[in-house]
Amino acid sequence: MNYIGDKQYWDEKFLNRGDKILSPESSLVENIKYLKLGSVLDVACGDGRNSIFLLRNGFFVTGVDFSLKAIERLESFATKENLKVSTKQVDLTLKDALKDLDVFDNIVINHYKLSIENISKLENHLRDDGILFVCGFGHKHKVDSKIKEEDLIKPEDFKVLKKSFELVRYIENEDERGFFVTYIFKKKAVL
Ligand SMILES: C[S@@+](CC[C@H](N)C(=O)[O-])C[C@H]1O[C@@H](n2cnc3c(N)ncnc32)[C@H](O)[C@@H]1O
Repeated sequence: MNYIGDKQYWDEKFLNRGDKILSPESSLVENIKYLKLGSVLDVACGDGRNSIFLLRNGFFVTGVDFSLKAIERLESFATKENLKVSTKQVDLTLKDALKDLDVFDNIVINHYKLSIENISKLENHLRDDGILFVCGFGHKHKVDSKIKEEDLIKPEDFKVLKKSFELVRYIENEDERGFFVTYIFKKKAVL
């Protein structure tokens, strides 16, 4: 599903952003210790504030997003710091959006709502003991014209993960910007 806006909305948003990269998501910074050193798929990476943070911390990062403007900015931020990032333009609304993507040690989804169908496919792209980090507006966030009901992360979104994932950490945060949740899952090793 499109999150907040369509491709044109996001392209314009990134085109009009200043030269400086934004700070990484604070929940990711606080919980980086849960990630397995290795590779990360940054789903709906935007212009890469989290990808760049992870690259600086020694992870191999692949960022996917449907906005070419976002991807171009991420690549240019990486080049400026001599960091190597892999990117792919992917429309995550498509049923087979994840099909050609590799298998990773971690998947990060920050401020994007993946469809339940694609959430159920994440296990095919994570190694055993791999970490799925999801953070964004949670079920108690007050919806408005910008953040809609379907953009909110809800506990039931993850029912499809039950068999193959365990929840390692769940965090709720509330501030003037709204109600945020972080879910950290670990993929169970198949014996
Ligand atoms: C709120 S931003 C979050 C960006 C980044 N994860 C972060 O935390 O800074 C939402 C991102 O989702 C992307 N997005 C929205 N709908 C999408 C879709 N259908 N396919 C791929 N990316 C999409 C936008 O281009 C944008 O980069």
